[in-house]
Amino acid sequence: MEALLLSCTLMLTLQKIILTQFKNYDQASFSFTERVIGICGLNGKGKTNLLDAIYYLCFTRSYFSRSDAFNIQFDKDGFRLEAQYVRDSKPEKLVCINRGNSKKELLLNDAVYEKFSMHIGRFPAVIIAPDDIMLITGGSEDRRRFLDTLLSQVDAGYLQQLIVYTKVLQQRNSLLKRFAEQGKTDWGLLEVLDEQLIQPGNYIYLKRKDFAAQMIPLVQQFYRQIAQNEEVIVLNYESQLNTQTFHSIINQFREKDFVLQRTNGGIHKDDLSIELNGQVFKNIASQGQRKSLLFALKLAEFELLKQKKGFAPLLLLDDVFEKLDDERMGNLLHWVCNENEGQVFITDTHKDRIEEAFRTLNTPYQIIALN
Ligand SMILES: Nc1ncnc2c1ncn2[C@@H]1O[C@H](COP(=O)(O)OP(=O)(O)OP(=O)(O)O)[C@@H](O)[C@H]1O
Ligand SMILES: [Mg+2]
Repeated sequence: MEALLLSCTLMLTLQKIILTQFKNYDQASFSFTERVIGICGLNGKGKTNLLDAIYYLCFTRSYFSRSDAFNIQFDKDGFRLEAQYVRDSKPEKLVCINRGNSKKELLLNDAVYEKFSMHIGRFPAVIIAPDDIMLITGGSEDRRRFLDTLLSQVDAGYLQQLIVYTKVLQQRNSLLKRFAEQGKTDWGLLEVLDEQLIQPGNYIYLKRKDFAAQMIPLVQQFYRQIAQNEEVIVLNYESQLNTQTFHSIINQFREKDFVLQRTNGGIHKDDLSIELNGQVFKNIASQGQRKSLLFALKLAEFELLKQKKGFAPLLLLDDVFEKLDDERMGNLLHWVCNENEGQVFITDTHKDRIEEAFRTLNTPYQIIALN
């Protein structure tokens, strides 16, 4: 009945996932019958790994492990993940096969993808995990990755341009190193790479700028909802390109590039600055305020994805109960379970706590207990 109901509306629903030799799962299958799903179990039982398997199929990579080797069950040669979704009322089957050393394969409804990048954004998802606090306390790289993950899901062109930019940037940096080692410079070659950098760089800049303008008011709105107080959060998209053209930036940094043997100007230096009551956020914010802002950023990501896709992304919440005081937690869960109409997966070590929260919210739910 529930599955039928879900499949009639414009939304994305994960109905089933089958894991084979993926992390701690030798063979496991999970059917999801409700929109709100609690995944419970003691430490080390595989809650995060199950969320990661869902994430993996959306992004063709793990959220947590840098190398695919860590996703293969110890002492095995490969893994397989299969998911059955309903998207826009149509059933979709997705399979990812990793055969160890050889290339991995991704199949949508039995057709093989030629490029994984074409898959990104088809099954949008937003994950919130404990280490994500780095998004606020870490370096600018973490915030750029956040923007890139979001933009890549709504704009396939963006991901392509980002891949090109990153490749040319690496080539340019290697060239600068080689010039220094050889003690001579090929200006012509450098200028070719400059041109190749500028074009995708401008594209990425304009997209990030446009997106930041849409995202920032949403972050502020969600922060107010979670914190329920007068704290003023100010965010700004910082880029060298805000005040100069990419051409002039390249010229300005040319000498510094030679000395440091790397490229100092460009969109790989962008950041999202955050202030609380007029001060740099990460310097003064309490842990609870940081966590609230993290949720605000992620929910803004969620909301933008939903607007662009026309349906809610999957929401994957790992250990969020450990993150906030009861009041902020209540506000967040209320939004996640009652105001949002997408499917949400929430892990917790305490089955009773999560069931109690769902009952209080008066929302239908499913509990998956991992033993
Ligand atoms: N490649 C792998 N092969 C086999 N087991 C693995 C692999 N990678 C991780 N594990 C195991 O998976 C378990 C961790 O699972 P996971 O992180 O999902 O736990 P969890 O339920 O989220 O725990 P916690 O409550 O502590 O967050 C550990 O026991 C770990 O040893
Ligand atoms: Mg975990």
